[in-house]
Amino acid sequence: MRTRRDFLTTASLAATGLALAPLAACSRNGAPPPAAGAGDAAPAATAPAQAPASGSLITRAIPATGEQVPVIGAGTSGSYEVPLGSADYNTLEETIRVFFEGGGTVFDTSPNYTNADEVLGALLESGGWRDRCFLATKIAEDSREAMEAQWAETLRRLRTDHVELLQVHNLREWEIALPYARELKEQGATKYIGLTHYLERGHADLERIMRAEKPDFIQINYSVNAPQAAQSLLPAAQELGVAVLINRAFDDGKLFAEAQGKTLPGWAAELGITSWAQMFLKFAISHPAVTAVIPATGKPDRQTDNLQAGHGELLSRAQQDELVALFG
Ligand SMILES: NC(=O)c1ccc[n+]([C@@H]2O[C@H](COP(=O)([O-])OP(=O)(O)OC[C@H]3O[C@@H](n4cnc5c(N)ncnc54)[C@H](OP(=O)(O)O)[C@@H]3O)[C@@H](O)[C@H]2O)c1
Repeated sequence: MRTRRDFLTTASLAATGLALAPLAACSRNGAPPPAAGAGDAAPAATAPAQAPASGSLITRAIPATGEQVPVIGAGTSGSYEVPLGSADYNTLEETIRVFFEGGGTVFDTSPNYTNADEVLGALLESGGWRDRCFLATKIAEDSREAMEAQWAETLRRLRTDHVELLQVHNLREWEIALPYARELKEQGATKYIGLTHYLERGHADLERIMRAEKPDFIQINYSVNAPQAAQSLLPAAQELGVAVLINRAFDDGKLFAEAQGKTLPGWAAELGITSWAQMFLKFAISHPAVTAVIPATGKPDRQTDNLQAGHGELLSRAQQDELVALFG
């Protein structure tokens, strides 16, 4: 049942062009998903996690098409680089179930995260999640020939014949990679194309190329201890109608060490924020140019925690500034 708070949140989101995604409750076929770890070598290391708060994840529109995606997605760097069939893999089966049942859809991977894309492909197939997934990956090679070989291998490893988003990794050989991505888009092999970077020092080049090339998406770092994107890059994306994915919202996990000994601001509870992870993700999605944030975790309880940030009210400008002052 919707509470008054949910209603007020919905109303205020509607006023800003946001929407709420339906909460997914079962597999794409309407059947319950398979039990995590069933028939596998070792049991999940973590107790089954609960789906996050009732209600729906906030969604945002991809400017190029108006397609809505939930603001909380997932990354795979590190956290999905585990041996197939290992105990960590079995734990990921539970993590990904929590993600999709909690209403998540956006997954980001790359051919250069060792075997993360292979693990993701296996998990999407065995869980029956592929049709529900907004699957993003990358081109990370130096020549057209190598890119073509990498793309063929990407499809094999992801166990699919298309992706939703194909991004040029860290602008690597973008003058070759972007036209190739456009060709694949024309062929229907990807719905959207994009450019990524993960450091402030890449932002100026990224903005210049974004303005010239107008990709569907950019993916950049933006966090309470690296908020520079709000100065120019995020407003430029908003002005141009380019969707934005946020990587490293936890500064690759380093923010949790920085948060040790710090208590959440007094206003956190009023917004339903109960952890620093939720606070860091809320910071990222509170910028209106941001389409989704893609935190990586291999742990079901942390996945629940991360999804929780996609519910409730966003941070005010003053609250965002307070966090930047605390972690800057
Ligand atoms: N150039 C690029 O295109 C680029 C660069 C960087 C990242 N990315 C993408 O962005 C994604 C996110 O970035 P990232 O993985 O570098 O860093 P991140 O999401 O900022 O941080 C990930 C780290 O946070 C931990 N964590 C996750 N949720 C947590 C929680 N609720 N509580 C405590 N710890 C938590 C994870 O550990 P556990 O797994 O142990 O939970 C992991 O060590 C990547 O996975 C990748 O898909 C792209």
